[in-house]
Amino acid sequence: MPAQMQIESVPLADALGAEVHGIDLSVPLSGETVAAIRQTWLDHQVLVFRNQHLTDAQLTDFSRHFGDLDTVPGWEPFSPSGHPEVLIISNVRKDGATIGVLGDGEASWHTDMSYLDQPPPGSLLYSLEVPDTGGDTCFMSMYAALDALPTDIREAIRGKSLNHDSSHDSAGNLRSNHTAFEDVSGAPGAQHPIVRAHPETGRPALFLGRRLHAWIVGESVESSEALLDRIWEHCTRQEFTYCHQWQRGDLLMWDNRCTMHRRDPFDAQARRVMHRTQLKGDAPVRAAASA
Ligand SMILES: [Fe+2]
Repeated sequence: MPAQMQIESVPLADALGAEVHGIDLSVPLSGETVAAIRQTWLDHQVLVFRNQHLTDAQLTDFSRHFGDLDTVPGWEPFSPSGHPEVLIISNVRKDGATIGVLGDGEASWHTDMSYLDQPPPGSLLYSLEVPDTGGDTCFMSMYAALDALPTDIREAIRGKSLNHDSSHDSAGNLRSNHTAFEDVSGAPGAQHPIVRAHPETGRPALFLGRRLHAWIVGESVESSEALLDRIWEHCTRQEFTYCHQWQRGDLLMWDNRCTMHRRDPFDAQARRVMHRTQLKGDAPVRAAASA
């Protein structure tokens, strides 16, 4: 019998984020409970569930309530046995090899895999081991950043698209199957409207992907860089963000369509182990009507 649970959510910051109480994610949930979680997610963009105790099967069962799950080509060795939809994010090494991806370094602000034609709508990240300090994950509301965007910038990006480079990872490293380039207007990747409409809420949101190697289509590289610098300076203000200090047993889910995230580095000697699922992209990015 699926469990019907009363959801209570407490906002974590002005712009985004809510902590959800009263939910045990390890048990099957009723349709009403799932619908309430989805609405809370759409309202707050990032949800935090504390003190969870999840197996990989329970993590994937819960994640599937929100869409089909993705697998990332090339990262198969970093999935737990029997769970190809789960990706291990970790710096821990075993028998000389790392058990997961992303190491211990900083990850700069980004939207996951925005260089795809149909980027993933969201992700869920569950913590099994966390360092005492460091490794915080911060989120930015792209609704709030757009709402407060100066009028002249808004006019300058009206109707424009951004090229989302596919050749570098979120640490800025060139991916192994790509070649280096000087001119960002020649970067491989996908082009998306800079102001998108969220497909479920209808709200317009900035859609930036990541700063490095981005290019506003049709602009000279010089003017694209100048405009992007201004947009990013505006977006990275603290008032648009929530930073999460991880505890063991936290499950976070974020909406990749209206948020960006970044990660602090942490002590390389400390252990950090997270299991992640990612929702599969199922629609192209649409421009907001006002854009
Ligand atoms: Fe990410």
